[in-house]
Formats: sequence, C-alpha cells, structure tokens
Amino acid sequence: MMQGSPAYDAHVRFEHVRMGFGTRTVFEDLVCGFPRGQISVLLGGSGSGKSTLLRLLGGLIRPAAGKIFVGDDEVTGAPEPTLYQIRSKIGMLFQGGALLDSLTVFDNLALPLREHSDLSEDAITETIRAQLSAVGLEKIDHLLPGQLSGGMLRRAALARAILREPEILLCDEPFSGLDPSSVKRIEMLLAKVNQERGITVLVVSHHIASTLRLADHALLLLPGRSVEGKPADLHRSEDAEVADFFDEDLAIDDVTPTASETLGS
Ligand SMILES: Nc1ncnc2c1ncn2[C@@H]1O[C@H](COP(=O)(O)OP(=O)(O)OP(=O)(O)O)[C@@H](O)[C@H]1O
Ligand SMILES: [Mg+2]
Repeated sequence: MMQGSPAYDAHVRFEHVRMGFGTRTVFEDLVCGFPRGQISVLLGGSGSGKSTLLRLLGGLIRPAAGKIFVGDDEVTGAPEPTLYQIRSKIGMLFQGGALLDSLTVFDNLALPLREHSDLSEDAITETIRAQLSAVGLEKIDHLLPGQLSGGMLRRAALARAILREPEILLCDEPFSGLDPSSVKRIEMLLAKVNQERGITVLVVSHHIASTLRLADHALLLLPGRSVEGKPADLHRSEDAEVADFFDEDLAIDDVTPTASETLGS
C-alpha cells in the first residue's frame, strides 16, 4: 500500500488539500479519509476547520490546491453539473442549521423535493410523513419551526437531510445546545441511519462522550496537522497534543451538557 493511503475503503478522500481565507491558512496540506458505510467524527478546537472541511467536501467552496474525492467522483475542479450530481448524493445538516422560520415543517421538507425531484404532491406527502416518523416526529408537520423544541427541531432538520436518500450524511454539531436525553436520541438516530441505510456519516462534534460511543472512525484537526484513527485509540494516544485534546474536552463535558458549546464557539 502506498504511503499515506488509508488502510480502509475510503468513501471520501482529501489529498494534499490547501485552503485558506485571505491571509488565514486553515489547511496547509490536509491528507485524510472517511471510511465507507461507517460513522466518522470530526474533532478539533474552534476555528480548526471542521465546518470548512465539510463545505469543501460538498463543493460549496474550492481549495487552493489538492484534490477531494467522493467515491470515484472528483469534487475539486468538477464543473457545476457534475457538482450538482455529487451533491445530490450528500445530505447536509448545517451548524445551527435550522429550518426556514416562515414555512411549516412540511413545507420546509417539501422544498427540496419539489425543487429536485419529479415526485407528485401525494408522493411528497408520503415521503415526508415516512421520514418524520423515522426520526420519531409524528403529527407536527403543520407546525412552524418556532413551535418545536430544540431537540425536535434538530430531528426535523435531520429528516430533511436524509429525505433524498443520500449516500453520505454530513452533520455539523448536531448535539450542540441539546439536553443529554436529546443528545442520546440524535445519536441513536444517526446510528440507525448508518446501520439501516448504510449511509456514510460524518459528524462534527464537541461532545467527546458521544464520539466514543458512536463513531467508528475519528479525525482530529490540530494546528498544522491532523490525526485519524479509532476514537478509543486517539483517546489513549501517547501524542501529548492528541491526549490533551481529549482531556480538556472531557473536563468541559463534565460541567454541563451545553458548556462545550458556550466555551467552544
Ligand atoms: N467564509 C469565511 N471567510 C473568512 N474566514 C473564514 C470563512 N469561513 C471560515 N473562516 C475561518 O476559517 C477558520 C476555520 O473555520 P471553521 O468554521 O471551519 O472552524 P470550525 O472548526 O468549524 O470552528 P467551530 O468549532 O467554532 O465551528 C476560522 O479561522 C474561520 O474564521
Ligand atoms: Mg464549525
């Protein structure tokens, strides 16, 4: 095996990616991958580039150098129609990614289906009901987002992200600001989506406890470098910077369920 190429079937690969904003370099030479059909977690301090990595992967922004692959498709340099094809296989749950306030939950979910599919209104209704029920939400489709609790809102956003049966699901901090039982519930849903539909899941999380419970694979973004492996192995790492990250975050996790959000972003 070539040096640097992963020892697993990578669904997503970053090859020597350089990315910055103005004079701020986020990634100098990022090489990493995410295994197919597994749950990966993206860790790193605030500003380390976790959201940037997801946006690069979805082709929402382009790197200054390097290549990004989703399956056999190269995202980097892809023309808009190809990018559109690639994006149709990716579901995204953005950081703080709420639904549109002025639309009911139903219309929020119907929007992407009306725009991107040829489904009849009846089929759209059926799909939405099924997906909402899959995330444990029943009879709330006529409500406005403002009428839902934080945990329900996050589940509705998750339902929207998996609506078009993506091959990859990107979740940017799906646990932040939620109480422990809502965190567990979202965790269980992500595990379910992964197991039942075989979707490759990438989760950005400050929540180390969930990470250790949930993820098969972890990528930790550190200043100027990244480390990947099994979460438990990173947790036990002899690399001081890696171990420090877990120690600090476990300490933060102990304070309150939302402290990591308050302190971290
Ligand atoms: N559109 C942008 N314009 C300028 N700078 C940006 C932009 N997006 C991100 N950055 C910068 O890139 C760096 C990485 O940002 P990013 O949002 O990826 O961090 P993050 O790891 O997701 O942080 P957090 O945990 O706080 O969400 C930060 O320094 C940020 O200020
Ligand atoms: Mg972020």
